[in-house]
Amino acid sequence: MFNPVRALATCALALAAFSANPALADEPILIKFSHVVADGTPKGQGALLFKQLVEERLAGKVTVEVYPNSSLYGDANELEALQKDEVQLLAPSLAKFEQYTKQLQVFDLPFLFDDIEAVNRFQKRSKGRQLLRSMEDHNIVGLAYWHNGMKQLSATRALHTPGDANGLSFRIQPSAVLEAQFRQIGASSQKLPFAEVFNALKSGQVQGAENPWSNIYSKQLHEVQPFISETNHGVLDYMLVSNSRFWYSIPHHIRTELEAIIDEVTYVVNQQAEAANQTDRQRIIDSGRSQVITLTGEEREAWRNAMRPVWQQFESVIGSDVIKAAQTVNRKQHK
Ligand code: SIN
Repeated sequence: MFNPVRALATCALALAAFSANPALADEPILIKFSHVVADGTPKGQGALLFKQLVEERLAGKVTVEVYPNSSLYGDANELEALQKDEVQLLAPSLAKFEQYTKQLQVFDLPFLFDDIEAVNRFQKRSKGRQLLRSMEDHNIVGLAYWHNGMKQLSATRALHTPGDANGLSFRIQPSAVLEAQFRQIGASSQKLPFAEVFNALKSGQVQGAENPWSNIYSKQLHEVQPFISETNHGVLDYMLVSNSRFWYSIPHHIRTELEAIIDEVTYVVNQQAEAANQTDRQRIIDSGRSQVITLTGEEREAWRNAMRPVWQQFESVIGSDVIKAAQTVNRKQHK
């Protein structure tokens, strides 16, 4: 017998499923990709390439809008916006996931990875792959790792040895590991969003920072930092993430195509990031605005020895299995 109440309830459920599931709508699926850096950086280029390939291969089915330079969301609110499905793709640096998983802090440990190739090997091995799934309880799914590159230390004074940093305050990303790293060398730190770094350095609120070359150049940080020491002491890479509920609601055939595009873009970003950093390093030198300091082997070893105790402080938090897996990826064995 016809039951109007049940019929109404069924209708309401069907409508709810329809609006929650982009598959059932006629409109193209909209993917807003928000990030905090400039278009010309490895991440900025990756976002634009993703948009281009999606619009070539999934025209009419998926539309991508890219918002660079914190123009839609910034460090303070982008992950919450992702969880609320207000934005569907982000690529925060790995240091910015601390509130969702401590395991990713392995990437912040100073002098753990010798170079970006070592980072790449770790990300491709099983432990690195597992970490892509480490935030699923928070409705965040990791889709890929994107490189930026190794970080350099910039400051208002020339930093040759760890003691040279004594008393300075450095801008850091929101990571307890990075805070501890600077404490180790007698410096202090302030957690500030990326969008505020230039002004904080210019005004003297902080006197130093740590960034890859492409972030220094694209935000003109070298204009306000007279010295940059080429320490390569840590890595700044990204995880491309989506809202799990959104991602798995995309029809399978479209999601498969999106994942194939992400693989392609990831390959290009990771191939080109190091070259982009080297080009920006040279641009900074050519600008004459900042002196690039090359460390001797002995000087670099002194930085390593000064910062290395941080590993032990965070071993139980990050997991010794994760740190051990990361230690196997360097070509050279360290003491
Ligand atoms: C970024 O490259 O996304 C910004 C990293 C930072 O906050 O230093």
